[in-house]
Amino acid sequence: MRIDILTLFPEVFSGFLQGSLLGAAHCSGLIDIRTTNIRDFSTGTHHQVDDRPYGGGPGMLLMPGPVVEGVEFVKSSDPMPSHVVMLSPSGRRLEQSMVEEFSKKPRLLLLCGRYEGFDDRVREILQPDEVSIGDYVLSGGEVAAMVLIEAIARLLPGVLGDPTSALNDSFSGDERLVEGAQYTRPREFRGLKVPDVLLSGDHGTIAKWRLEQSVQATRRRTHTLTNTTPSATSRS
Ligand code: ADE
Repeated sequence: MRIDILTLFPEVFSGFLQGSLLGAAHCSGLIDIRTTNIRDFSTGTHHQVDDRPYGGGPGMLLMPGPVVEGVEFVKSSDPMPSHVVMLSPSGRRLEQSMVEEFSKKPRLLLLCGRYEGFDDRVREILQPDEVSIGDYVLSGGEVAAMVLIEAIARLLPGVLGDPTSALNDSFSGDERLVEGAQYTRPREFRGLKVPDVLLSGDHGTIAKWRLEQSVQATRRRTHTLTNTTPSATSRS
């Protein structure tokens, strides 16, 4: 799989891409991730990429020229078609089912914004798939792009040492259950013992117990989510 990242801050990706999981995936040719600086597509002596919004308002917007031209250039560098994803708080909220879909694409092009966002003509021209990693605002799309890349990479065949790990992840499978309690050594820690069933060696009973734990953890989570009502009066 190839992933292109368009950003004003390519340097923030270097440590992340060299880290254990992605570094190894890159070395073994399972994933090819490249960064491109949007500023390289700015014109003018000051390499300006942002400007004030028409009609007034706070902050600066990314100008359409460098973004659209950068995306067109990166797309044309490889005949493989790419699915363009714009990281933005106004996108559809990222879920594991979307990560699974993305992991099947041969090529992704991730567009990271900064400042107050993009001139809207970027959306009109590129028609990107807009994705948010949650209902909060980051200073740019870079961290969101890293979240997406890490979630995708785990699903690519050969990236995880044990291919069954991703199958057991929370939110995978048709039921979208979260993982239940798990234990490792020691058998007893500060008076808390590993449940006997896990030491029984009875794989059928262990599988049943784990499923029950997952269902309970999912119920607890759903209960917490549905009982956290958004405050309608938070703005005064
Ligand atoms: N850029 C700024 N905030 C973001 C968010 N919540 N998700 C994705 N991209 C963003």
